[in-house]
Amino acid sequence: MRRKHGHLRRGVSLHGLCCSLLPLWLMNDVSDQSALESHFHQSTTTNSANGGCYLKFCAPNPATAGSAAPKMQLSVKDLVESNCLSCVPSEYVCLKTHEDSMLSETETIPTIDFSQLTSPNPNQRSKASLQLAHACRHWGFFMLTNHGVSETLRDEVIRAAHDFYDLAEEEKRKYAGGQLFDPIKYGTSFNPRVDKNLFWRDYLKIHVHPQFHAPTKPPAFSEILEEYCKKSREVIGKLLKGISKSLGLEESYIHKRLNLESGSQLVVINFYPPCPKPEVTMGLPPHTDYGLLTLLVQNELNGLQVQYNGKWVPVHPLPNCILVNTGDHMEILTNGKYKSVVHRAVVNKKAVRISIGTAHGPPLDTVLSPAPELLSDDNPPAYRAITYRKYVQLQKNHPLDRKSCLDRIRL
Ligand code: OGA
Ligand code: NI
Repeated sequence: MRRKHGHLRRGVSLHGLCCSLLPLWLMNDVSDQSALESHFHQSTTTNSANGGCYLKFCAPNPATAGSAAPKMQLSVKDLVESNCLSCVPSEYVCLKTHEDSMLSETETIPTIDFSQLTSPNPNQRSKASLQLAHACRHWGFFMLTNHGVSETLRDEVIRAAHDFYDLAEEEKRKYAGGQLFDPIKYGTSFNPRVDKNLFWRDYLKIHVHPQFHAPTKPPAFSEILEEYCKKSREVIGKLLKGISKSLGLEESYIHKRLNLESGSQLVVINFYPPCPKPEVTMGLPPHTDYGLLTLLVQNELNGLQVQYNGKWVPVHPLPNCILVNTGDHMEILTNGKYKSVVHRAVVNKKAVRISIGTAHGPPLDTVLSPAPELLSDDNPPAYRAITYRKYVQLQKNHPLDRKSCLDRIRL
């Protein structure tokens, strides 16, 4: 990989400047300089947001790019490892508004004690249930303590994720460039097909339920991931029971209505390499998650920020907690009572940040609509019915525009 980058940098004569962002397909298909030059037109930009850094980058020439569709944008990991980056390539620079920089350092997301939520003592349970209702209603985010997923398993799954990213790019790229619902998908940025700029994040998405899938390498990855996913489904199952009850519904309401035994579980492993100027870019843009609930664990670096009262609240997780957030389908099901909250991930200069999210939702072809039991004349349905599959497609086909995809199905 490194050898190929060296070759390409000479080919497009980047004059020793700080970035060379090349589509990956080119590395496979083009090997001589004249071919390179006809495939590219070069452009230069200066960008004041990036400290006046002079950037030169290459874009595919639409006239000569031919039929070879780009397979995958260069991963951020490769970009960082194959260059001495002192600034951020202009494609990754995000224009930020005043609101984007409004941080709240005083607020903290709520904490829910899982052992109380599942306690045999009814008083403890109902107290925890009220706290859960408050967290889902006002924050859409909370830290879950005493959840029963061991620290060892959490550390192992993060280690295995790191090992996956340490594989050769060729190995990882076996899972790149496929279709939206491919069982395993390796990629970069957020939604490069429609977003205005790129984001400082590589990802691996794996569908692990109802059918379990996993990359074959590294060797221990599959087994550790399966164990972690099983444990997280147990936690989710109990949380959803608590949520059903907190809504005044029967404990198994959500399970039955959404056929959760065959529900979908999607793992997203985010890899955020260290960034020379974290303030000019973003790991993940403001977004909401689809699905009912997401569980998130991370290595020792923070980066998640949650929108609350118009400000961004940086999340500093308690040791050994799991972060939980309600997703778009919870907002639809509860007709807006429990919110799917906008959040984002910022990057840092120090080291690689890894986070692992597991999103739990109904089976892909289940139609989701507000629960009739929660509707009334004063509270008519606020969202149109849509299958989980269609909803995911809807999100992928539109740029974020700072809005939740939910706005597209609001009545
Ligand atoms: C996500 C997400 C946050 C993080 O993967 O949807 O919001 O901190 N991740 O990585
Ligand atoms: Ni998210």
